[in-house]
Amino acid sequence: MNDATPVTPASPESQPGDHAYNSNEPPIVIEGLVNQFGRNRVHDGVDLTVRAGEILGVVGGSGSGKSVLMRSIIGLQVPAEGRVTVLGRTLTDFDPDANVGVRCRWGVLFQGGALFSTLTVGENVEVPLKQFYPELRPDLRAEIARYKVLLSGLPEDAIDKYPSELSGGMKKRAGLARSLALDPELLFLDEPTAGLDPIGASRFDQLTKELKETLGFTVFLITHDLDTLHEICDRVAVIADKKVIAVGTIPELIETGHPWILEYFQGVRGRAAAASQKRGETL
Ligand SMILES: Nc1ncnc2c1ncn2[C@@H]1O[C@H](COP(=O)(O)OP(=O)(O)O)[C@@H](O)[C@H]1O
Ligand SMILES: [Mg+2]
Repeated sequence: MNDATPVTPASPESQPGDHAYNSNEPPIVIEGLVNQFGRNRVHDGVDLTVRAGEILGVVGGSGSGKSVLMRSIIGLQVPAEGRVTVLGRTLTDFDPDANVGVRCRWGVLFQGGALFSTLTVGENVEVPLKQFYPELRPDLRAEIARYKVLLSGLPEDAIDKYPSELSGGMKKRAGLARSLALDPELLFLDEPTAGLDPIGASRFDQLTKELKETLGFTVFLITHDLDTLHEICDRVAVIADKKVIAVGTIPELIETGHPWILEYFQGVRGRAAAASQKRGETL
């Protein structure tokens, strides 16, 4: 973003080139996406449609391009080819200033959390509010941040703590609170339960599901966590061979017979997760 140009107050309906987005339309449509770093072609024709109101799990081997796919959708990665349409807006030129109206309509929890270490939890949550609503009164901004922190299941006294004073699970919740700051229609979570113990991971999953049901957003959820996939995902997209090779419920994916999918869901870990889900275990 050009420092000389002040960010205009967000007004999603007023961006040139926007058409009114009908909330029943797929919020994300990816067509023929190609991403390449030097000679490393990461995506070679990715097609994917995310449905309104679903939790879509995204799986794939390490380095298969899950995070790059997320970055393409939110305009942080300029693709070599293809088209990405988010909330009815085609992000063709990937000009962050031009896309300010749509950028305030999603929230992102990056892999690793990425909280500002010199800011308290409350101040971290205020960052997007300051960026997109600079005219907001400071007391009101603090109150909205406080509400988001509590909504993310953190205790009130976490608001004034610094990230270094928080456990791994609390950091994830603080990151989640920040991603909820702008009341997103779309939530992007990149491996939110990585590094959490099974109880913390299961609680985070339930929180994600409850928030989605209460607040009504769509979730794009990158995860390695088989329990998460079984417990809260409506459908799962599988990235392999530089493409999305299948999207569906877990039984539908298994029906494809693809070797990677079979190994992933029917290997030792996959079978254990399926069995625990069948028994209705939640930690
Ligand atoms: N900014 C970048 N510059 C060069 N290569 C990158 C960059 N970001 C990701 N890559 C490469 O793209 C591939 C996919 O990365 P990533 O999407 O992070 O994988 P993952 O599926 O584990 O999230 C990897 O080979 C990675 O090295
Ligand atoms: Mg990643």
